[in-house]
Amino acid sequence: MTDSAPLLEVRDIAKHFGNITALQGISTSVNAGEVTCVLGDNGAGKSTFIKTLAGVHQQSEGQYLVEGEEVRFGSPREALSKGIATVYQDLAMAPLMSIWRNFFLGSEPRNAIGMMKTAFMKRTAREEMAKMGIDIRDPEQPVGTLSGGERQSVAIARAVYFGAKVLILDEPTSALGVKQSGVVLKYIIAARDRGLGVIFITHNPHHAYPVGDRFLILNRGRSMGNFAKSDLPRDELVKMMAGGAELDALTHELEGSR
Ligand SMILES: Nc1ncnc2c1ncn2[C@@H]1O[C@H](COP(=O)(O)OP(=O)(O)O)[C@@H](O)[C@H]1O
Ligand SMILES: [Mg+2]
Repeated sequence: MTDSAPLLEVRDIAKHFGNITALQGISTSVNAGEVTCVLGDNGAGKSTFIKTLAGVHQQSEGQYLVEGEEVRFGSPREALSKGIATVYQDLAMAPLMSIWRNFFLGSEPRNAIGMMKTAFMKRTAREEMAKMGIDIRDPEQPVGTLSGGERQSVAIARAVYFGAKVLILDEPTSALGVKQSGVVLKYIIAARDRGLGVIFITHNPHHAYPVGDRFLILNRGRSMGNFAKSDLPRDELVKMMAGGAELDALTHELEGSR
C-alpha cells in the first residue's frame, strides 16, 4: 500500500455474461473524503459495475485495487471485510422492526450470557445517526413508517458504524422526490466529510454534480469518460446525460420518417 493510492481503483474492467458483454474498458477511482458518481441511462451497466465492486460478480478482465493492492472478492462478505459496503436500491430492511433493531440486524452485540445489549443498541443507533446529521425522535419507530430518504439514512449510518471505508450507493435517490433526494445528498456529504470514499450511482446529473468530485459515465456498458470535476463543466455533464449525439441522431431519424 502506498499513501497516494486511491481507496478504490479499477482499471480496464470488463464483465461478460456468456456472449453478452455487460461492461468493457471501465476505469475509475475514489479517494478518501471524495465522491465518485457513476452515471448512465437504464441498462448502461451501472448495477453490474457496482455488483462487481461489491463482490457479487467477479470481473472477467481488468484490475481491481483497494488501497493500492489488487483484490478479487469471491463474495459480498469478502468485500465488506475490506471495508467496501454497498447499499442497494431495494434496501434489505425489516419494515416492522424498529430503527435500532434494523441498525444492528444480524450483528447484535450480546453480553456474556447471550442477551442482546438493548440499551446500548438504542443509544448507539441514536448517536450514530446524529453524527450523520439525522435526528431520530424515537429509536423504537418501525422502519416501515420512515420516509424513503430516512430509510436510506439508517442503512448509510449502519454501514459507517460497522467500519465501511467505501460506501457504494446504487441509485439511492431514484425513487425519491426532490426534498427527500436532498436529504440523501446531505448524507452522502456527511459520509464524505467523515473520510469515507463514496461511490454514488445515479442517472440524474443534477443530483450528481453538486456532490461529485469525479464522474464516470457509462453508456451501453462502455465508458464515455471518467472525469475529474474540474475537467467537466456542469452543462457538459447534463448534455451527455440528455443523450447528446444519440438523441440528435434519433431526432433526425424520427423527423426523416414522415
Ligand atoms: N446476470 C446477467 N446476465 C446477462 N446479462 C446481464 C446480467 N446482468 C446484467 N446484464 C446485462 O447488463 C446490462 C446492464 O444492466 P444493469 O447493470 O442492470 O444496468 P443499469 O443498472 O445501468 O440500469 C443489461 O442490459 C444486461 O444486458
Ligand atoms: Mg441499476
